[in-house]
Amino acid sequence: MKPVKIGLLGLGTVGSGTVKVLRRNAEEITRRAGRGIEVAHAAARDLSRPRACDLSGVRLTEDPHAVVNDPEVQVVVELIGGDELARELVMRAIANGKHVVTANKALIAKHGNEIFAAAQRQGVTVAFEAAVAGGIPIIKALREGLAGNRIQWLAGIINGTGNFILTAMRDQGREFADVLAEAQRLGYAEADPTFDVEGIDAAHKLTILASIAFGIPLCFDQVSTEGIAAITPEDVEYAAAFGYRIKHLGIARRTGQGVELRVHPTLIPERRLIANVDGVMNAVLVKGDAVGPTLYYGAGAGSEATASAVVADLVDVVRSLTSDPENRVPHLAFQPDALSDLPILPMAEVETAYYLRLSAEDKPGVLADVARILGELGISIEAMLQKEPPSEQDPATIIMITQRVREALMDQAIARIEALSHTRGQVVRIRLEHLNKD
Ligand code: HSE
Repeated sequence: MKPVKIGLLGLGTVGSGTVKVLRRNAEEITRRAGRGIEVAHAAARDLSRPRACDLSGVRLTEDPHAVVNDPEVQVVVELIGGDELARELVMRAIANGKHVVTANKALIAKHGNEIFAAAQRQGVTVAFEAAVAGGIPIIKALREGLAGNRIQWLAGIINGTGNFILTAMRDQGREFADVLAEAQRLGYAEADPTFDVEGIDAAHKLTILASIAFGIPLCFDQVSTEGIAAITPEDVEYAAAFGYRIKHLGIARRTGQGVELRVHPTLIPERRLIANVDGVMNAVLVKGDAVGPTLYYGAGAGSEATASAVVADLVDVVRSLTSDPENRVPHLAFQPDALSDLPILPMAEVETAYYLRLSAEDKPGVLADVARILGELGISIEAMLQKEPPSEQDPATIIMITQRVREALMDQAIARIEALSHTRGQVVRIRLEHLNKD
Protein backbone atom coordinates (compact mmCIF):
# COMPACT_ATOMS: atom_id res chain seq x y z
CA MET A 1 0.00 0.00 0.00
CA LYS A 2 1.21 3.54 -0.77
CA PRO A 3 2.41 5.61 2.20
CA VAL A 4 0.06 8.20 3.69
CA LYS A 5 1.28 11.71 2.87
CA ILE A 6 1.30 14.24 5.65
CA GLY A 7 1.74 18.01 5.69
CA LEU A 8 3.68 19.58 8.54
CA LEU A 9 3.00 23.09 9.83
CA GLY A 10 6.03 24.19 11.86
CA LEU A 11 9.57 22.88 11.83
CA GLY A 12 10.62 24.07 15.28
CA THR A 13 11.42 21.93 18.32
CA VAL A 14 8.44 19.55 18.02
CA GLY A 15 8.27 19.67 14.20
CA SER A 16 11.87 18.61 13.72
CA GLY A 17 11.51 15.99 16.48
CA THR A 18 8.52 14.55 14.60
CA VAL A 19 10.48 14.31 11.34
CA LYS A 20 13.36 12.61 13.16
CA VAL A 21 11.15 10.03 14.93
CA LEU A 22 9.19 9.28 11.74
CA ARG A 23 12.42 8.66 9.84
CA ARG A 24 14.31 6.77 12.55
CA ASN A 25 11.42 4.46 13.45
CA ALA A 26 9.89 4.25 9.96
CA GLU A 27 9.94 0.48 9.82
CA GLU A 28 8.26 -0.09 13.20
CA ILE A 29 5.76 2.69 12.56
CA THR A 30 4.78 1.11 9.22
CA ARG A 31 4.37 -2.28 10.89
CA ARG A 32 2.08 -0.70 13.46
CA ALA A 33 0.06 1.58 11.17
CA GLY A 34 -0.23 -0.84 8.26
CA ARG A 35 1.13 1.83 5.88
CA GLY A 36 4.14 4.08 5.72
CA ILE A 37 3.84 7.71 6.85
CA GLU A 38 5.68 10.20 4.64
CA VAL A 39 6.20 13.91 5.28
CA ALA A 40 5.36 15.26 1.82
CA HIS A 41 5.04 19.02 2.42
CA ALA A 42 6.21 21.21 5.29
CA ALA A 43 5.90 24.89 6.14
CA ALA A 44 8.19 26.97 8.33
CA ARG A 45 8.17 30.72 8.94
CA ASP A 46 11.79 31.18 7.84
CA LEU A 47 13.27 28.52 5.58
CA SER A 48 16.74 30.04 5.75
CA ARG A 49 17.12 28.87 9.37
CA PRO A 50 19.08 25.65 9.88
CA ARG A 51 16.93 22.63 10.91
CA ALA A 52 17.82 19.82 13.27
CA CYS A 53 16.35 17.13 10.98
CA ASP A 54 16.76 15.58 7.53
CA LEU A 55 14.26 17.20 5.17
CA SER A 56 15.35 15.45 1.97
CA GLY A 57 12.40 14.65 -0.29
CA VAL A 58 10.08 17.10 1.57
CA ARG A 59 8.56 20.02 -0.35
CA LEU A 60 9.21 23.15 1.69
CA THR A 61 7.32 26.42 1.83
CA GLU A 62 6.99 29.52 3.99
CA ASP A 63 3.24 29.59 3.25
CA PRO A 64 1.30 27.29 5.64
CA HIS A 65 -1.84 27.70 3.50
CA ALA A 66 -0.01 25.90 0.66
CA VAL A 67 0.23 22.83 2.91
CA VAL A 68 -3.41 22.76 4.08
CA ASN A 69 -4.58 23.29 0.49
CA ASP A 70 -2.24 20.65 -0.98
CA PRO A 71 -4.50 17.93 -2.51
CA GLU A 72 -1.79 15.33 -1.98
CA VAL A 73 -1.74 15.85 1.80
CA GLN A 74 -4.14 13.58 3.72
CA VAL A 75 -3.17 14.51 7.27
CA VAL A 76 -2.10 17.97 8.48
CA VAL A 77 0.16 18.10 11.55
CA GLU A 78 -0.17 21.51 13.22
CA LEU A 79 2.86 22.41 15.34
CA ILE A 80 3.04 26.19 15.05
CA GLY A 81 1.40 27.01 18.41
CA GLY A 82 -0.64 30.14 19.15
CA ASP A 83 -4.37 30.10 18.56
CA GLU A 84 -5.37 32.53 15.80
CA LEU A 85 -3.42 31.42 12.71
CA ALA A 86 -3.50 27.83 13.98
CA ARG A 87 -7.30 27.95 14.22
CA GLU A 88 -7.63 29.32 10.68
CA LEU A 89 -5.30 26.67 9.26
CA VAL A 90 -6.90 23.78 11.14
CA MET A 91 -10.42 24.85 10.12
CA ARG A 92 -9.24 25.12 6.49
CA ALA A 93 -7.63 21.68 6.65
CA ILE A 94 -10.89 20.20 8.01
CA ALA A 95 -12.94 21.98 5.34
CA ASN A 96 -10.57 20.42 2.79
CA GLY A 97 -11.40 16.97 4.22
CA LYS A 98 -8.02 16.39 5.87
CA HIS A 99 -7.39 14.77 9.23
CA VAL A 100 -5.48 16.89 11.73
CA VAL A 101 -2.92 16.10 14.43
CA THR A 102 -2.00 18.95 16.75
CA ALA A 103 0.13 19.59 19.84
CA ASN A 104 -1.59 22.92 20.42
CA LYS A 105 -3.23 23.07 23.87
CA ALA A 106 -4.38 26.70 23.56
CA LEU A 107 -6.07 25.91 20.25
CA ILE A 108 -7.97 22.90 21.61
CA ALA A 109 -8.84 24.49 24.99
CA LYS A 110 -10.19 27.68 23.41
CA HIS A 111 -11.57 26.54 20.04
CA GLY A 112 -11.93 22.78 20.44
CA ASN A 113 -15.74 22.76 20.58
CA GLU A 114 -15.95 24.50 17.20
CA ILE A 115 -13.10 22.45 15.70
CA PHE A 116 -14.56 19.09 16.77
CA ALA A 117 -18.03 19.99 15.50
CA ALA A 118 -16.54 20.87 12.11
CA ALA A 119 -14.47 17.67 12.09
CA GLN A 120 -17.54 15.62 12.97
CA ARG A 121 -19.48 17.15 10.08
CA GLN A 122 -16.63 16.42 7.66
CA GLY A 123 -16.03 12.90 8.97
CA VAL A 124 -12.38 13.64 9.81
CA THR A 125 -10.36 13.17 12.98
CA VAL A 126 -8.58 15.83 15.03
CA ALA A 127 -6.05 14.15 17.34
CA PHE A 128 -4.33 16.06 20.13
CA GLU A 129 -2.46 13.70 22.46
CA ALA A 130 0.64 15.93 22.38
CA ALA A 131 -1.35 18.92 23.68
CA VAL A 132 -1.38 17.63 27.26
CA ALA A 133 1.68 16.50 29.22
CA GLY A 134 3.91 16.09 26.15
CA GLY A 135 4.90 12.47 25.73
CA ILE A 136 2.63 10.98 28.43
CA PRO A 137 -0.28 9.19 26.70
CA ILE A 138 -2.78 10.66 29.14
CA ILE A 139 -5.50 11.44 26.58
CA LYS A 140 -5.53 7.85 25.39
CA ALA A 141 -5.43 6.53 28.96
CA LEU A 142 -8.42 8.63 30.00
CA ARG A 143 -10.44 8.33 26.82
CA GLU A 144 -9.88 4.64 26.15
CA GLY A 145 -8.02 2.88 28.95
CA LEU A 146 -10.32 4.18 31.70
CA ALA A 147 -13.53 4.15 29.63
CA GLY A 148 -15.21 1.76 32.08
CA ASN A 149 -14.84 4.15 35.00
CA ARG A 150 -16.74 7.05 36.37
CA ILE A 151 -13.82 9.47 36.83
CA GLN A 152 -14.08 11.17 40.21
CA TRP A 153 -11.11 13.51 40.13
CA LEU A 154 -7.75 14.14 38.57
CA ALA A 155 -4.80 16.22 39.67
CA GLY A 156 -1.80 16.95 37.51
CA ILE A 157 1.58 18.58 37.43
CA ILE A 158 1.07 19.66 33.85
CA ASN A 159 3.49 22.55 33.47
CA GLY A 160 7.14 21.53 33.50
CA THR A 161 8.46 25.07 33.87
CA GLY A 162 6.43 25.72 37.02
CA ASN A 163 7.53 22.40 38.48
CA PHE A 164 11.17 23.13 37.64
CA ILE A 165 10.91 26.46 39.48
CA LEU A 166 9.23 25.02 42.60
CA THR A 167 11.70 22.12 42.71
CA ALA A 168 14.73 24.45 42.57
CA MET A 169 13.18 26.73 45.21
CA ARG A 170 12.83 23.74 47.52
CA ASP A 171 16.16 22.03 46.81
CA GLN A 172 18.31 25.13 46.59
CA GLY A 173 16.30 27.65 48.65
CA ARG A 174 16.33 30.03 45.67
CA GLU A 175 13.94 32.89 44.90
CA PHE A 176 11.22 32.52 42.29
CA ALA A 177 12.55 35.17 39.85
CA ASP A 178 16.05 33.76 39.84
CA VAL A 179 14.89 30.24 38.91
CA LEU A 180 12.49 31.56 36.27
CA ALA A 181 15.40 33.28 34.51
CA GLU A 182 17.25 29.95 34.45
CA ALA A 183 14.17 28.10 33.08
CA GLN A 184 14.02 30.65 30.26
CA ARG A 185 17.72 30.24 29.51
CA LEU A 186 17.24 26.45 29.34
CA GLY A 187 14.32 26.84 26.90
CA TYR A 188 11.62 25.16 29.05
CA ALA A 189 9.32 28.17 29.31
CA GLU A 190 6.67 29.14 26.76
CA ALA A 191 7.48 32.06 24.41
CA ASP A 192 5.54 34.15 26.92
CA PRO A 193 6.59 32.72 30.32
CA THR A 194 3.56 34.27 32.05
CA PHE A 195 1.63 31.37 30.45
CA ASP A 196 3.73 29.02 32.58
CA VAL A 197 4.03 30.90 35.86
CA GLU A 198 0.47 32.28 35.95
CA GLY A 199 -1.00 28.86 35.24
CA ILE A 200 -2.54 29.64 31.85
CA ASP A 201 -0.65 26.82 30.13
CA ALA A 202 -1.79 24.41 32.87
CA ALA A 203 -5.36 25.75 32.58
CA HIS A 204 -5.37 24.98 28.84
CA LYS A 205 -4.31 21.41 29.58
CA LEU A 206 -6.70 20.98 32.52
CA THR A 207 -9.61 22.14 30.34
CA ILE A 208 -8.88 19.33 27.91
CA LEU A 209 -8.41 16.67 30.61
CA ALA A 210 -11.63 17.64 32.40
CA SER A 211 -13.73 17.42 29.24
CA ILE A 212 -12.44 13.94 28.50
CA ALA A 213 -12.77 12.83 32.11
CA PHE A 214 -16.33 14.03 32.68
CA GLY A 215 -17.82 14.32 29.19
CA ILE A 216 -18.39 18.07 29.33
CA PRO A 217 -17.73 20.67 26.61
CA LEU A 218 -14.38 22.46 26.75
CA CYS A 219 -14.70 25.47 29.06
CA PHE A 220 -11.33 27.19 29.40
CA ASP A 221 -12.95 30.50 30.45
CA GLN A 222 -14.31 28.91 33.61
CA VAL A 223 -11.05 27.52 35.00
CA SER A 224 -9.99 29.31 38.18
CA THR A 225 -6.29 30.02 37.74
CA GLU A 226 -3.64 31.14 40.22
CA GLY A 227 0.11 31.20 39.47
CA ILE A 228 3.22 30.52 41.52
CA ALA A 229 4.87 33.96 41.52
CA ALA A 230 3.82 34.67 45.12
CA ILE A 231 5.34 31.48 46.56
CA THR A 232 8.34 32.29 48.78
CA PRO A 233 11.21 30.04 49.89
CA GLU A 234 9.84 30.43 53.47
CA ASP A 235 6.50 28.89 52.50
CA VAL A 236 8.31 26.02 50.81
CA GLU A 237 10.31 25.49 54.01
CA TYR A 238 7.33 25.74 56.40
CA ALA A 239 5.35 23.34 54.20
CA ALA A 240 8.25 20.87 54.48
CA ALA A 241 8.26 21.28 58.27
CA PHE A 242 4.65 20.01 58.29
CA GLY A 243 5.49 17.14 55.88
CA TYR A 244 4.15 18.71 52.67
CA ARG A 245 5.54 19.81 49.30
CA ILE A 246 4.19 22.70 47.28
CA LYS A 247 3.27 21.74 43.72
CA HIS A 248 1.46 23.73 41.04
CA LEU A 249 -1.51 21.48 40.35
CA GLY A 250 -4.36 21.45 37.89
CA ILE A 251 -7.32 19.84 39.67
CA ALA A 252 -10.64 18.71 38.21
CA ARG A 253 -13.13 17.17 40.59
CA ARG A 254 -16.72 16.05 40.20
CA THR A 255 -18.89 16.90 43.21
CA GLY A 256 -22.61 16.61 43.89
CA GLN A 257 -23.02 20.26 42.85
CA GLY A 258 -20.92 20.33 39.68
CA VAL A 259 -17.30 20.33 38.57
CA GLU A 260 -14.34 22.04 40.22
CA LEU A 261 -11.76 23.26 37.70
CA ARG A 262 -8.77 24.96 39.28
CA VAL A 263 -5.07 25.58 38.85
CA HIS A 264 -3.15 26.79 41.90
CA PRO A 265 -0.14 26.11 44.12
CA THR A 266 -1.06 23.24 46.42
CA LEU A 267 0.45 21.61 49.49
CA ILE A 268 0.43 17.83 49.09
CA PRO A 269 1.72 15.21 51.55
CA GLU A 270 5.37 14.47 50.71
CA ARG A 271 4.78 10.71 50.81
CA ARG A 272 2.50 10.81 47.76
CA LEU A 273 4.26 9.64 44.60
CA ILE A 274 3.14 12.77 42.77
CA ALA A 275 4.79 14.96 45.41
CA ASN A 276 8.11 13.48 44.28
CA VAL A 277 7.73 14.44 40.63
CA ASP A 278 10.53 16.97 40.28
CA GLY A 279 12.15 19.25 37.75
CA VAL A 280 10.48 19.59 34.34
CA MET A 281 8.71 16.22 34.60
CA ASN A 282 4.91 16.01 34.45
CA ALA A 283 2.50 13.60 36.17
CA VAL A 284 -1.26 13.15 36.25
CA LEU A 285 -3.07 11.30 39.03
CA VAL A 286 -6.52 10.06 37.99
CA LYS A 287 -9.07 8.53 40.35
CA GLY A 288 -11.64 6.28 38.72
CA ASP A 289 -14.39 4.56 40.72
CA ALA A 290 -13.48 1.08 39.49
CA VAL A 291 -9.71 1.26 39.11
CA GLY A 292 -8.93 3.55 42.07
CA PRO A 293 -6.04 6.02 41.79
CA THR A 294 -3.71 5.67 38.77
CA LEU A 295 -0.62 7.76 38.06
CA TYR A 296 0.90 8.70 34.70
CA TYR A 297 4.42 10.13 34.69
CA GLY A 298 6.89 11.28 32.07
CA ALA A 299 8.37 14.10 30.05
CA GLY A 300 5.84 16.90 29.60
CA ALA A 301 7.78 18.76 26.95
CA GLY A 302 10.79 18.42 24.66
CA SER A 303 11.41 17.66 21.02
CA GLU A 304 11.22 13.89 20.74
CA ALA A 305 9.09 13.34 23.86
CA THR A 306 6.32 15.48 22.35
CA ALA A 307 6.98 13.96 18.91
CA SER A 308 6.29 10.56 20.51
CA ALA A 309 2.69 11.66 21.11
CA VAL A 310 2.36 13.31 17.68
CA VAL A 311 3.52 10.14 15.92
CA ALA A 312 1.21 7.95 18.03
CA ASP A 313 -1.69 10.13 16.88
CA LEU A 314 -0.53 9.79 13.29
CA VAL A 315 -0.52 6.01 13.65
CA ASP A 316 -4.07 6.14 15.07
CA VAL A 317 -5.26 8.36 12.23
CA VAL A 318 -3.70 6.11 9.59
CA ARG A 319 -5.29 3.03 11.18
CA SER A 320 -8.67 4.76 11.15
CA LEU A 321 -8.53 5.88 7.50
CA THR A 322 -10.60 2.92 6.41
CA SER A 323 -13.01 2.93 9.38
CA ASP A 324 -16.51 4.35 9.35
CA PRO A 325 -16.35 7.99 10.65
CA GLU A 326 -19.42 7.32 12.82
CA ASN A 327 -17.57 4.59 14.67
CA ARG A 328 -14.31 6.36 15.50
CA VAL A 329 -13.29 7.11 19.08
CA PRO A 330 -15.13 10.40 19.91
CA HIS A 331 -12.88 13.47 20.18
CA LEU A 332 -13.91 14.19 23.78
CA ALA A 333 -14.27 10.53 24.79
CA PHE A 334 -18.08 10.72 25.05
CA GLN A 335 -20.40 10.76 22.03
CA PRO A 336 -20.87 14.41 20.94
CA ASP A 337 -24.65 14.29 21.52
CA ALA A 338 -24.10 12.82 25.01
CA LEU A 339 -21.97 15.57 26.53
CA SER A 340 -23.30 16.71 29.89
CA ASP A 341 -23.96 20.27 31.01
CA LEU A 342 -22.63 19.86 34.56
CA PRO A 343 -22.07 23.36 36.02
CA ILE A 344 -18.50 24.53 36.71
CA LEU A 345 -18.36 25.63 40.35
CA PRO A 346 -17.06 29.07 41.39
CA MET A 347 -14.04 29.00 43.74
CA ALA A 348 -16.24 30.16 46.64
CA GLU A 349 -17.98 26.76 46.48
CA VAL A 350 -14.78 24.71 46.38
CA GLU A 351 -13.80 22.83 49.53
CA THR A 352 -10.12 22.31 50.42
CA ALA A 353 -7.83 22.37 53.43
CA TYR A 354 -5.51 25.38 53.81
CA TYR A 355 -2.02 26.44 54.81
CA LEU A 356 -2.13 29.92 56.36
CA ARG A 357 0.83 32.14 57.23
CA LEU A 358 0.39 35.40 59.09
CA SER A 359 2.49 37.98 60.89
CA ALA A 360 1.33 39.29 64.25
CA GLU A 361 2.68 41.16 67.25
CA ASP A 362 4.09 38.73 69.79
CA LYS A 363 1.52 39.58 72.50
CA PRO A 364 -0.76 37.52 74.73
CA GLY A 365 -4.20 36.92 73.18
CA VAL A 366 -3.26 37.30 69.49
CA LEU A 367 -3.30 33.59 68.85
CA ALA A 368 -6.53 33.25 70.82
CA ASP A 369 -8.14 35.92 68.60
CA VAL A 370 -7.11 34.09 65.43
CA ALA A 371 -8.30 30.73 66.82
CA ARG A 372 -11.60 32.32 67.90
CA ILE A 373 -12.30 33.66 64.40
CA LEU A 374 -11.60 30.27 62.86
CA GLY A 375 -13.66 28.52 65.54
CA GLU A 376 -16.65 30.86 65.06
CA LEU A 377 -16.66 30.01 61.36
CA GLY A 378 -16.42 26.28 62.09
CA ILE A 379 -12.88 26.00 60.69
CA SER A 380 -10.86 23.37 62.48
CA ILE A 381 -7.09 23.81 62.96
CA GLU A 382 -5.12 20.64 62.26
CA ALA A 383 -1.57 21.84 63.05
CA MET A 384 0.13 25.06 64.10
CA LEU A 385 3.63 26.49 64.39
CA GLN A 386 4.83 29.80 65.77
CA LYS A 387 8.27 31.15 64.82
CA GLU A 388 10.02 33.41 67.28
CA PRO A 389 10.53 36.92 65.90
CA PRO A 390 14.19 37.74 65.08
CA SER A 391 14.01 40.65 67.56
CA GLU A 392 11.45 42.05 70.01
CA GLN A 393 10.37 44.73 67.52
CA ASP A 394 9.64 42.21 64.73
CA PRO A 395 6.30 40.45 64.36
CA ALA A 396 6.03 36.73 65.02
CA THR A 397 5.15 34.34 62.18
CA ILE A 398 2.25 31.95 62.75
CA ILE A 399 1.68 29.05 60.37
CA MET A 400 -1.48 26.94 60.47
CA ILE A 401 -2.87 23.96 58.61
CA THR A 402 -6.67 23.79 58.65
CA GLN A 403 -9.10 21.03 57.88
CA ARG A 404 -11.27 21.17 54.76
CA VAL A 405 -13.58 24.13 54.50
CA ARG A 406 -15.57 25.93 51.79
CA GLU A 407 -13.48 28.74 50.23
CA ALA A 408 -16.19 31.34 50.93
CA LEU A 409 -15.80 30.70 54.68
CA MET A 410 -12.02 30.90 54.49
CA ASP A 411 -12.32 34.25 52.63
CA GLN A 412 -14.39 35.56 55.56
CA ALA A 413 -11.93 34.22 58.13
CA ILE A 414 -8.94 35.80 56.38
CA ALA A 415 -10.68 39.18 56.09
CA ARG A 416 -11.44 39.11 59.83
CA ILE A 417 -7.90 38.02 60.78
CA GLU A 418 -6.36 40.76 58.62
CA ALA A 419 -8.62 43.31 60.34
CA LEU A 420 -7.31 42.42 63.84
CA SER A 421 -5.26 45.27 65.29
CA HIS A 422 -2.32 43.01 66.20
CA THR A 423 -1.90 41.27 62.82
CA ARG A 424 0.37 42.71 60.12
CA GLY A 425 -0.16 42.72 56.34
CA GLN A 426 -1.94 40.03 54.40
CA VAL A 427 -2.51 36.43 55.36
CA VAL A 428 -0.78 34.06 52.92
CA ARG A 429 -3.08 31.21 51.95
CA ILE A 430 -2.11 28.12 49.98
CA ARG A 431 -4.65 25.38 49.35
CA LEU A 432 -3.86 21.87 50.56
CA GLU A 433 -5.02 18.56 49.08
CA HIS A 434 -4.43 15.12 50.58
CA LEU A 435 -4.99 13.36 47.22
CA ASN A 436 -5.87 10.17 49.01
CA LYS A 437 -8.37 7.55 47.93
CA ASP A 438 -11.48 9.70 48.47
N1 HSE B 1 5.91 25.38 28.66
C1 HSE B 1 5.31 24.09 28.77
C2 HSE B 1 5.78 23.48 30.09
C3 HSE B 1 5.73 23.23 27.59
O1 HSE B 1 6.65 24.08 30.74
O2 HSE B 1 5.27 22.46 30.48
C4 HSE B 1 4.85 22.04 27.33
O3 HSE B 1 3.52 22.36 27.11
